[in-house]
Amino acid sequence: EKVILAYSGGLDTSVLIPWLKENYDYEVVCVCIDVGQGNELDGLEERAISTGASKLYIEHVVDEFCDDYILPCIKAGAVYEHKYLLGTAMARPLIAKILVDIAKKEGAVAICHGATGKGNDQVRFELGIKALAPTLKIIAPWRIWDMKSREDELEYCQRHDIKLPFKADNSYSRDRNIWHISHEGLELEDPAAAPNFDHMLVLGQTPEKAPDEAEAVSITFEAGKPVALNGKEMKLSDIITELNKLGGKHGIGIADIVENRMVGMKSRGVYETPGGTILMEAHDQLEELILDKETLSMKKDVGNKFADIVYSAKWFSPLREACQAFVESTQKYVTGECKMKLYKGNIIKQGTTSPYSMYNESIASFTTGDLYNHHDAEGFINLYGLSTMVRAMKMHEISQN
Ligand code: ARG
Ligand code: SIN
Repeated sequence: EKVILAYSGGLDTSVLIPWLKENYDYEVVCVCIDVGQGNELDGLEERAISTGASKLYIEHVVDEFCDDYILPCIKAGAVYEHKYLLGTAMARPLIAKILVDIAKKEGAVAICHGATGKGNDQVRFELGIKALAPTLKIIAPWRIWDMKSREDELEYCQRHDIKLPFKADNSYSRDRNIWHISHEGLELEDPAAAPNFDHMLVLGQTPEKAPDEAEAVSITFEAGKPVALNGKEMKLSDIITELNKLGGKHGIGIADIVENRMVGMKSRGVYETPGGTILMEAHDQLEELILDKETLSMKKDVGNKFADIVYSAKWFSPLREACQAFVESTQKYVTGECKMKLYKGNIIKQGTTSPYSMYNESIASFTTGDLYNHHDAEGFINLYGLSTMVRAMKMHEISQN
């Protein structure tokens, strides 16, 4: 019998191979899913096999990740608890989907993942698997074994004579893909402590260290989708990669937040989402110009809901599909170009244009136009303020007796 193991080549997942063989007597098929984490894939197969796996799949799914998972979140403006751009949360369902696909292909009886029993990721992997293969067995060793730390894992490797190309250094708990990198643990576990950015940052640098000169950037959208950077047409994954470099250089998109995990605890993390932060801002600016007041307001609510759904492991759900359909219907005219300047952690507007802009200069301007008659405002205020007036009169009457 076979088990499919979500494999990264890091310490955790390396320990899992001998552990699975020892405890279940399964044949272990490893799957490394490339969502743009940028780790070294050379030598990975050899490492998996030498630690006891029978096979390693390497699946490159960056474009699928960008088009089917990141893009709906951009269009929705999905941000969890006002700050987290959901980089880890949006990748988990895709990873679950690939694991299930390969489990079916291999005729495996189980899927194993290396997420801990304290976090969100276990819930996301497992709800993803349940949604796509409801009867497949799931093995979560961190909830079973009694290893508790990196040290325990290294000790296990030693006992089992597994040679690993890592140092026993203690670093942040990280998760990286094309959209972001997350950092948790170490000094961040004390919310009173300042983040040690020099030691931490991977995709960029702090605003203090960013160049003294601002840099211009422009993004073109078609129906809500980013299609060009600085006037040059590119696929979304390339736009994100380029913007990560630019944004990282200028200290954009570093968020330090205490968030509410699904499992009940508050947890502090630092997220670097340089390119994503620029894309979200540009998309917002276009929508400001194009969407009417009521749609924009409803869309903010749906976007919040969407973020909650994605964070809370319900990607594969009718509600996510319904919210996405609503968002999609608002994006038809979200087409145009947004110019910005990046400067020491700031994104500064340099002008936004759209063939579908609802902004009408002759109406809005203080100096021009005859579409708007000042006298109309008087009647409007009388009716609009009527209930306010009626209530005030009643309150006055009550206070008199
Ligand atoms: N707290 C974030 C989330 O729940 C990031 C999780 C990072 N995961 C990891 N295995 N390091 O989405
Ligand atoms: C983990 O516990 O595996 C990482 C953190 C999280 O899932 O929230």
